[in-house]
Amino acid sequence: MPLRSVVCTIPSMKLSVISALLTASAASAFNPAFLPGNRSVSLLHSIPGLPRLPTLDELLQRRQTAALNLNDIQSDIIVGQQKIQELFYFFAIADVPTFKQKLSSTIAPIITSAQQMLSVTTQPLAAVNIAFSQSGLTALGVTDNMSSSEFASGMFSGNIVLGDVSADWEPVFKGTEIHGVFIVASDTSANVDAQVGKLESALGSSINKLYTLQGNSRPGDQAGHEAFGYLDGIGQPAISGFATPIPGQGVVQPCVILAGLDGDIQQTARPAWSVGGSFLAFRQLEQKVPEYNKFLLDNAPPAAGLTVQQRADRFGARLFGRWKSGVPVDLFPDADNPAAVTNTSLVNDFDFTHAGFDFATDQTHCPFAAHIRHMRPRADASNFNPAGNAIMRAGIPYGPEVTPAEASSNTSSLARGFAFVAYQSNLNKGFVELQSGWANQINAFSKALSPGFDAIIGQHILGGARWVTGMDPTNPALNISLPFQFVVARGGEYFFAPPISALSGRLAM
Ligand code: HEM
Repeated sequence: MPLRSVVCTIPSMKLSVISALLTASAASAFNPAFLPGNRSVSLLHSIPGLPRLPTLDELLQRRQTAALNLNDIQSDIIVGQQKIQELFYFFAIADVPTFKQKLSSTIAPIITSAQQMLSVTTQPLAAVNIAFSQSGLTALGVTDNMSSSEFASGMFSGNIVLGDVSADWEPVFKGTEIHGVFIVASDTSANVDAQVGKLESALGSSINKLYTLQGNSRPGDQAGHEAFGYLDGIGQPAISGFATPIPGQGVVQPCVILAGLDGDIQQTARPAWSVGGSFLAFRQLEQKVPEYNKFLLDNAPPAAGLTVQQRADRFGARLFGRWKSGVPVDLFPDADNPAAVTNTSLVNDFDFTHAGFDFATDQTHCPFAAHIRHMRPRADASNFNPAGNAIMRAGIPYGPEVTPAEASSNTSSLARGFAFVAYQSNLNKGFVELQSGWANQINAFSKALSPGFDAIIGQHILGGARWVTGMDPTNPALNISLPFQFVVARGGEYFFAPPISALSGRLAM
């Protein structure tokens, strides 16, 4: 059942398809930051089960109604899913006048737009996006109020509210020294490295590299699956006028993801240059994969007729709300059905209600505490409109596969996890509400039986005990303790990904 979309309208900007095609070749070969070369295959995966992106042809046919300036919107914001190789390059601006001059003349022309990404023929060899933190804007002399207290203070100052343990954070994220991040994506790490080399030589000593995180899609049949093994990226919102929603997909107006558009509650407060940009919440989330697997085996609720491994698999699926294949437990409560994930007319088409079952108490299908139910409550939130809390996720796994030694010792010795990226026009309603207001709460949606934490990402802000209920379909009150974090927050930062025009406009002045 589709969610009601938030009440807001699309502003009257024109979709200029022809100029987009020109933009694709606008970055001159004489630009030192430009990585020359033609592309014959897409730099994005095509993963069965994930919502399909619109093609350029479809947008052309719909251009009377589509009204987003896709040439000015950075690609990662709305076409950032299903990437193969990606590097997050965090930097500080060392020489402001030189950086501004190069931002305008050299960097702006190579920043990849959403429209460029929609066709292989216009995709660059490596996509490049850029975003700035509050301290980055301040360094650039841009003092406009961005109307976001979270952005203004930076993620570290708010990490307690998120439930993080500061001591777990990477030193680089502890403070506000990161001014910006380049996000470079391609289908090969060689392309990513070559593009990063171009950026570094073009910018020279005007920036200092502070930190990098290399993301990569997992190998073989795990492509599209996060490190615990579950298919990721299914429950994305469909932006009205851009994507054609599949049944059950949340439909949101563009103003939920892009800042300054009609319907953005802070619209009048946004500086003009920022319209069409988006706030980016970045999180480095380490995943304790062997430990998680052992926890499932040791704590799976009893189930007649199932082996220990089958009970563990069902337990994991109930913690997430989806089986590893991506199939929702709300529709397939008893066993995985991997073939069904390619059926786009059902993979998102559920709202946790079932005829003949008491919605207030029934957990035989999907537990109240499941990650996807915490993150998108569907019918649980009938008293408000959760489409306004939607985020566009564009993260990617990082780190190596679990080694045989780690698997047999049930202990992580190598760091792996998720480079989490979420875009939204309002951090307070988006990432912050999802993490602090929903995942970290034991009863965000007022159930009679307190469901417990989001077992995957929920954190206790005082470091207290965490637990879940609802994991045993025959005994929903069974309380299972979560003795450690399967996901450990290693830090992050809030950024603003500006419209491309601002890079040679306000931000370069
Ligand atoms: C390492 C940490 C995380 C892992 C392993 C993880 C994994 C997953 C998986 C497997 C799904 C189901 C597939 C899908 O719908 O895409 C999912 C859905 C989702 N996750 Fe996470 N996630 C993580 C962190 C987060 C965080 C930090 C947030 C936001 C605060 C978040 C928000 C969401 C949302 C909004 C959905 C879609 C729910 C829906 O529409 O049904 N996730 N996640």
